[in-house]
Formats: sequence, C-alpha cells, structure tokens
Amino acid sequence: MIKVAIDGPAGAGKSTIARAVAKSLGYIYIDTGALYRAVGFNAKRCCVDFNCREQIVNTLNNLQIDIQFVNGEQRVCVNGEDVNDKIRTPEMSLVASAVSAVSEVRAFLFDLQKNLANSNNSIMDGRDIGTVVLPDADVKIFLTASAKTRAQRRYKELIEKGQSVEFDDVLADIEKRDYADSHREIAPLKQADDAVLADTSDLTLEESIELIKNIIADRLKK
Ligand code: DC
Repeated sequence: MIKVAIDGPAGAGKSTIARAVAKSLGYIYIDTGALYRAVGFNAKRCCVDFNCREQIVNTLNNLQIDIQFVNGEQRVCVNGEDVNDKIRTPEMSLVASAVSAVSEVRAFLFDLQKNLANSNNSIMDGRDIGTVVLPDADVKIFLTASAKTRAQRRYKELIEKGQSVEFDDVLADIEKRDYADSHREIAPLKQADDAVLADTSDLTLEESIELIKNIIADRLKK
C-alpha cells in the first residue's frame, strides 16, 4: 500500500489539499484530526474536566470510534452516532487539542490509524503521521503557511458556514493551538527529518494542490 503522510499546523489547508489530491490519485483520505475531535466530543459529552487527565482517560473505556468512507468521504462515528458535522466547531478544536496531549488517547487512536493506512492506498493528515504513526510512509510532507494566512482562511471558512466569529479570535485560537500542539511532551508537531517542506502562504488552493501532487509524483519515482 502506498502511504502519504501530510503533517502541519492547524489551518494550513491540509485537509482540503489532501482530500483533493487523494481524489485525483484514487487514494482514500484519512483525516486524523477528526479522530481527536471525536474523542474530545465524547469527553465533552461526558462532562469531563479537561484539566483532569484521569477523567479524560476514563472516557476511553466506553468509547467506540468507527471510520467509514461514504462516496470517498470519511465519516466518523462515536458509539454508533455519526458526529462528522458536530466536531467542526471552534469549541471542538479546543477540546481536541486538550485530549490530544494525553498519551493514552494517542495510543487509543494509534492502531485505528495504522490499520486504515495498511489496508488502502492513502493520504493521511495530522500532526505526527510522518514522525510517529507512519514513520515508514512512502512520502512525507510538512505543509505549512504563516499564522496570519491560516487565520484568514479559517475565518473565511467559518463565516461561509454561517458561524459568527471575530478574525482576532480565530488568529488567537490558531496561535494558541500552534503553541500547545508543538510544545506538548508527547508527539509534538514537528517536521520529520525526511519530510518535504511545502509552504502555501503565497499559493492559491489550485497551486497548492499542484505542488503536493508534484512532490508525491517526484518522491514515488525515486
Ligand atoms: O487538524 P485538526 O484541527 O482537526 O486537529 C484537531 C486537534 O487534534 C489539533 O489540536 C491537534 C490534534 N491532532 C493531533 O494531535 N494529532 C493528529 N495526528 C491530528 C490532530
């Protein structure tokens, strides 16, 4: 199976770009952020104190996460409930970031991610895919853009979805998550030594997709 790992900070366009590239290559696209969001969603529903690691870990005991692909689109189910549309809010971003710093949560999701990649040609995006989950990936890409560019994109996306947000809050949220994701002790966000760096700050979406396709084609040739 061909495995492509795309890591990078929040809002770099990973999911949009990875989804488009996967479609054009006929691979499945696996959004691992959605798995952390699903764990966060369940923990929130269990009313845990997100400062209490033990309470977060306890929620894993009765948690079943399933991934399905419907018309090539990933759907995430928490204990049988499709939560895809409920895990995309700013609040879920924060709870996902909180649970993602807990090692038991990462271990809980590890096999699920590995099994998905082992049974399909896939593009998997996240924070630690090239470094921890798929260290043997055929292609590793670290996709990034400046915090301001990322905040502008996320802001536009949320406004288009009809959510009422302030740009400064979106930027502050991105900076806060960048810090938390890259300073946590376990599996911090960092570029794998053998990953190709792709900075999309000055690129359009189409140009970014082209760039990633070229990197993949180039790496697979070698
Ligand atoms: O990509 P995203 O915004 O949906 O990710 C949500 C949170 O999950 C983010 O704060 C970082 C975390 N995450 C992670 O720690 N490891 C991954 N492989 C994917 C996401």
